[in-house]
Amino acid sequence: MLSKPTIVKMFDEQAKAFAEFSQESFQWHHMEKGIYDKYLSDNFLNNSEILDIGSGAGRIMKYLNQRGVLEENITGVDVSSEMVKIAKNRLPGATFANQDIAHLDLSNKNFSLVTSHMVFEFLDNDQLHKTLKQAYDHMAENGTLMYTTTHPNKMASGDYANYKDKQFWIDTSAPWEGGISTFHRPTNDFINATIKAGFHIDRIIEIGFDLSAKEESALKVAKYLKYGPMRLMVMARKLTKVKKPSARAVLYT
Ligand SMILES: C[S@@+](CC[C@H](N)C(=O)[O-])C[C@H]1O[C@@H](n2cnc3c(N)ncnc32)[C@H](O)[C@@H]1O
Repeated sequence: MLSKPTIVKMFDEQAKAFAEFSQESFQWHHMEKGIYDKYLSDNFLNNSEILDIGSGAGRIMKYLNQRGVLEENITGVDVSSEMVKIAKNRLPGATFANQDIAHLDLSNKNFSLVTSHMVFEFLDNDQLHKTLKQAYDHMAENGTLMYTTTHPNKMASGDYANYKDKQFWIDTSAPWEGGISTFHRPTNDFINATIKAGFHIDRIIEIGFDLSAKEESALKVAKYLKYGPMRLMVMARKLTKVKKPSARAVLYT
């Protein structure tokens, strides 16, 4: 168990290793990318202005760009300046901000899609609530939020006695290089925090390896099978505000 880590130092130091790892990782190719392929239609993407919060070395931004979204329609925000530097090199036409997403402050408050991939596990509860609220405030009405995080089951890694009631920092080694500290919370906390920020949840997806993973490495898949779902994705919308009829109006119409 760890105290709150200094995220900036951690990711500044690991930026290069993470950049090399992330784009080609087994998890990305056989577990995460397929979900974006499935749930983001070309039609939706072509008309989107996208904000990626916790954009790191630009993996999701690059993916979106490869799916046809113009760089100028993508904004990335990350608290690590080293990560932002690498991402800027990869996407010179995109917009970047070196900010803490819990205190996000961009002039554009009209994004139609906000993505966040493998970031919320690095936020404590207060930061998570603030970040979701900021995402909501930076979105156009009817905009979509799509975030993926390490599944709480995987985070607990078998320590299910602590799963439901306790929330704590976990110290592990990163699949790229060095150590990371992630914050465990149960699934219902993610869901409730999303609702509390004002979002309407459309879909929850519990993600595991796809079939192609076994063909590449049955051994790697076997290692993770015991955890069940490995990623949690939440898709939510900022619904257009409709004026609620007053109780009186409901009674008399
Ligand atoms: C595991 S990386 C994921 C990066 C990217 N989303 C991807 O999937 O390749 C986590 C990123 O979240 C960023 N991050 C963590 N806490 C943050 C915060 N409070 N504000 C902004 N960025 C944050 C880190 O700097 C790091 O770049």
